[in-house]
Amino acid sequence: MNKKIIKILNKKNKSKIVCLTAYSKNIAEILDKHCDLILVGDSLGSVLYNFKSTKEVTLQTMINHSKSVRLGVNKSLMVFDMPYKTYKNPREALKNAKLVMKETKCDAVKLEGGKKIISIVKKLVQNKIPVMGHVGILPQTDKKFTFKGKKQQESKKILNDTKLLENAGAFSIVLECIETNLSKKITDKLTIPTIGIGSSANCDGQVLVIDDLIGLSKSKFKFIKKYIDISKIIENAVKRYKLDVTKKRFPKAKHSFKN
Ligand code: KIV
Repeated sequence: MNKKIIKILNKKNKSKIVCLTAYSKNIAEILDKHCDLILVGDSLGSVLYNFKSTKEVTLQTMINHSKSVRLGVNKSLMVFDMPYKTYKNPREALKNAKLVMKETKCDAVKLEGGKKIISIVKKLVQNKIPVMGHVGILPQTDKKFTFKGKKQQESKKILNDTKLLENAGAFSIVLECIETNLSKKITDKLTIPTIGIGSSANCDGQVLVIDDLIGLSKSKFKFIKKYIDISKIIENAVKRYKLDVTKKRFPKAKHSFKN
């Protein structure tokens, strides 16, 4: 098994797993020093391309961004988010995941869903492609983005889905917007780590979209914590540059070439 995956598995019940998304090299390089796992998330559809949903994200777009991210990731586990309709059945999923692994050199792929995708997860794992699961809110197929686990029946289904994913060979599962007590129940029942987003501190690790954390996106979800408003810092630098150019203070002789 991939040593980076073993490292993630060994963190269960010992220390929290730190995960973030990245869509390009320069950001990935910074995150790599501090993260255990870097996800090239299909959230890039809304964050970078203003798509209404992640349904519009193509495999090729994800491959292009992942190639860039790969250049910045050294020590973290790099996970590729398989886009909508690229894993419709085991055969297609395997064909696409093999292409993704070859082109991007990622360490694992992530798929959304529970019971419905179990045969697909098994097929990939049997072919030595590590799989991360994703339950709770499923942005690729859900119509309503409200938290999961309000009703007993829904909670039972999600818990069962996570057990099926673990049995199918997934090495970890993202829990997206799952009710606090249900997150605890799932995390306690599974031997593989849970990675939460909007699913409380009861998970084995946490993931956030980097653009949300640094204030580059306009997202306002309850589960986001903005650590810095980097857009203000960038804007300030751009304003100073503009002033320098218009006042002829930039470029100076030291920025120019002379025979
Ligand atoms: O696409 C994404 O960024 C994700 C994470 C938020 C888990 O799936």
